[in-house]
Amino acid sequence: MAKLNIYLIGFLSIFYGTNGYYFMTVPQCRFTSKDLKDAEFIASFVFNKDEMIRFNSTVGKYVGYTELGVKNAELWNKGPELAQELGNLEGYCKNNAANDYSNVLDKTVQPEVRLSSLAPSSGGHLARLMCSAYNFFPKPIRVTWQRDGKEVKSDVISTEELADGDWYYQIHSQLAYTPKSGEKISCMVEHSSLTKPMVYDWDPSLPESERNKIAIGASGLVLGAILALAGLIYYKKKSSGVL
Ligand SMILES: *[C@@H]1O[C@H](CO)[C@@H](O)[C@H](O)[C@H]1NC(C)=O
Repeated sequence: MAKLNIYLIGFLSIFYGTNGYYFMTVPQCRFTSKDLKDAEFIASFVFNKDEMIRFNSTVGKYVGYTELGVKNAELWNKGPELAQELGNLEGYCKNNAANDYSNVLDKTVQPEVRLSSLAPSSGGHLARLMCSAYNFFPKPIRVTWQRDGKEVKSDVISTEELADGDWYYQIHSQLAYTPKSGEKISCMVEHSSLTKPMVYDWDPSLPESERNKIAIGASGLVLGAILALAGLIYYKKKSSGVL
């Protein structure tokens, strides 16, 4: 585990009973790419929700927003504070961001994919399939449909990648189509966690739970028929006086 650097600055909060005064400093690192070319270090100095001073590494100096802030920004820009703040882009920001990449952002988690059939839309006669991918990271993913190995683009509806709120994402894609006998429908998933695209073929036979229901129903029917037959034979023999 890499060690994160802590941004150190004076911190002061004064409370008088329930009505208090609150001073805080908020350091931020903003970056969007791994080369950290656009990394930006921001330090905000806030008193009672009012941002008085902000250091922005792209601007390269403190800027004050209130009377007190403007005065102090002027002082800090001439003092040792500025050099320290300028060093935070490398020492605090880029250092930690690199750790964020190696410990979190570079990691990948494979999607769990489910292929299922949907009831035809009301009034429609098209068959509908749903391909859902769950719990993958990072966000970019491609879910496509294939008919006998060729990509199908029409009659496909997809959601965006939906954030679960726990760093994982899910996505759903629906295909509407007129079934033809002997054809193969597949859902293809491409994601950075996978070394090659994963292809999931649709199995049009009934799922096992449905097959079990049919088997149980058929057994009941056979059992009922045997009992009815036995009863009939018994009745016939009894009425003909054999028994
Ligand atoms: C920092 O300054 C740059 C250049 O003026 C600006 O584009 C950026 O939005 C500023 N960032 C913040 C958080 O204020």
